[in-house]
Amino acid sequence: MTSASSLASILNKKPSSAAQILIFDMAWEPDLVIGMDIGTTYSGYACQFKDTFRSNPTNIWMHKWSQVSNKTKTCVLLNKNGELDSFGEKAEKIFSQEFDKDRNTAYENLFFYSNFKMVLYRENFSAADNAGNSYKAEDYFSRHTPLKDVMSKFIQGLKDDCWNRFSKQRRIQINEDKVRWVITVPAIWNEDAKSVMRKAAEMAGIPGNQLMLALEPEAAAISCFYLPEEERSAMGGLGQVVGDKFMIIDLGGGTVDITAVEVVSVSPKKQLKEIIGANGGAWGGQRINDAFTQVCRDVFKDKNGQSVFKDCKKADLLKMENLFEAEKLKITDQDDEWIEIHLPLDMRESILKDVRKEPHKYDEYFKITRSGLFFKPEIIQKVLFQETLNMTVKHLEEKMKAIQAEDIKKIILVGGFSESPIVIETMEKKFQGKKFCVATNPFYSVLRGAVLFGHQPNILKSRISRYTFGVDTNEPFHLNQHRADKRWIADDGTVYAKDIFSSHVTIGQVVAVGDRQPPQVYVPIYPHQKLIKLKIYQSTDKAPQYVTDPSCRLLGELIVELATPFGGSKKEAAVTMVYGGTELTVVGKDQAFGITFTTKIEFAHDN
Ligand SMILES: Nc1ncnc2c1ncn2[C@@H]1O[C@H](COP(=O)(O)OP(=O)(O)OP(=O)(O)O)[C@@H](O)[C@H]1O
Ligand SMILES: [Mg+2]
Repeated sequence: MTSASSLASILNKKPSSAAQILIFDMAWEPDLVIGMDIGTTYSGYACQFKDTFRSNPTNIWMHKWSQVSNKTKTCVLLNKNGELDSFGEKAEKIFSQEFDKDRNTAYENLFFYSNFKMVLYRENFSAADNAGNSYKAEDYFSRHTPLKDVMSKFIQGLKDDCWNRFSKQRRIQINEDKVRWVITVPAIWNEDAKSVMRKAAEMAGIPGNQLMLALEPEAAAISCFYLPEEERSAMGGLGQVVGDKFMIIDLGGGTVDITAVEVVSVSPKKQLKEIIGANGGAWGGQRINDAFTQVCRDVFKDKNGQSVFKDCKKADLLKMENLFEAEKLKITDQDDEWIEIHLPLDMRESILKDVRKEPHKYDEYFKITRSGLFFKPEIIQKVLFQETLNMTVKHLEEKMKAIQAEDIKKIILVGGFSESPIVIETMEKKFQGKKFCVATNPFYSVLRGAVLFGHQPNILKSRISRYTFGVDTNEPFHLNQHRADKRWIADDGTVYAKDIFSSHVTIGQVVAVGDRQPPQVYVPIYPHQKLIKLKIYQSTDKAPQYVTDPSCRLLGELIVELATPFGGSKKEAAVTMVYGGTELTVVGKDQAFGITFTTKIEFAHDN
């Protein structure tokens, strides 16, 4: 039987005053913004003071992790107590040294994680599986740890490192309360995945009220809005004219994230509005590496038809992939000489014992000799790149058709994968009539944009909702309107229909950033109820009728406590949703006393 306290029925839908609570203080101007881009393959941080933003917004400080890079690898090393040992390239180095010294000691003492961000990108990701178990990151030895903990340790590593280098080492006094932290997330992540990132950041010591999540392609769009003059004109005066529309494609390691924006105002304030809801898929540059490893496994077999790589040490396979990655970055469309990957000695010995080539559609592109593995660049340029890019191209073709994108003439490519000349050539061939360009330093566009966004969170004027959001309610039952299985009778004899989806925001709706949606008022079924427990749902349908429809998914709950009103007035709760920001916020207010009890959505099963 359904408990009375979990039920709510709509009294009316007329607008009432919105709850008086500050959800995210858009007007607050931090003294310093620290942006973090946590990528599937590479991550980094960047900082900028408020005054620098005002005088020279393109001047953003980024730490140099090596001679050539302002980002480090997304990997983290924990000790056996689950404490942070190191992160980034340093973690990879320490782990492989310890592993080479003594594998068993490394197994006992160390937990090394890489590639963990992609766990958060799944169709219908929820913070826990159906059995309520939270998602796990897998370490090098295939042991599992809650993803949130691993992500949190990685963020902690970045955060402490940033604070040390930027503040302590340079003896700069910064008031920690005056800092805004901005962490980027793929736009195609759902609300659950974003909530995992937020929790992980808070666990790492970033105060929730100073933390903003920024969507990666939007951050990239913002960074294109703040280009040095000469770069901007080289890109056709990007973002200079009101009404200018451009599409941004963030080609990362894990995901391809797409958005399109229109310039709403240039002066005195810069403002953009989203014109296509964020979209994309798991078609990043890492796919090429995975496909390469898979083809090698399929081409080189032993006499039993098993892959010769099957008994290789994981550490050696990791080295092989790193060597391939380095070669991949150098390949241009002009290369035609065999490329060598100098495999570790152990690996070569185990492979060469019994290697034979299987007939395979790509076997002409590979050979193994005493010195290493060789491949022809063609397999990368013409086959693996194309196979990966085709997924983006196909998706874009469908998107362009669906949105009648004639007036989007400019398409800006950002993300490390767009560094490859093969990418832009492929795109240009497929989409003639569009002007493609690669942002200057595309590898850092998202990171720079995160910082700029932190100084000006209202630069995005409106967004397009990716889902319909609503609340589970009851309403009076009508035979011609409701399904018979939804009918139930309350203790006072009233006949209700249950599981009604009471919609607050509709998919595709243009939602002004920071604006509250018109509140809806709910009343408890029973007069003695002390609280109303509202279940928040999302749906891919425009107008779902029941929360049990296949398009619907439970996001979490909002509990509004109800005070006993004086003078016979009714107990009521006003509920409003704010979905203009990067995260969904739901606010509930007890109408009798105007007290807001709970504001934050607790995501379902998030343990
Ligand atoms: N010149 C190049 N040619 C091909 N691929 C490249 C080149 N330079 C970088 N990449 C690829 O770009 C990817 C890294 O890009 P980036 O740092 O933007 O991704 P990320 O932020 O880690 O991932 P995501 O944004 O998907 O979470 C890697 O897969 C890398 O191999
Ligand atoms: Mg990225």
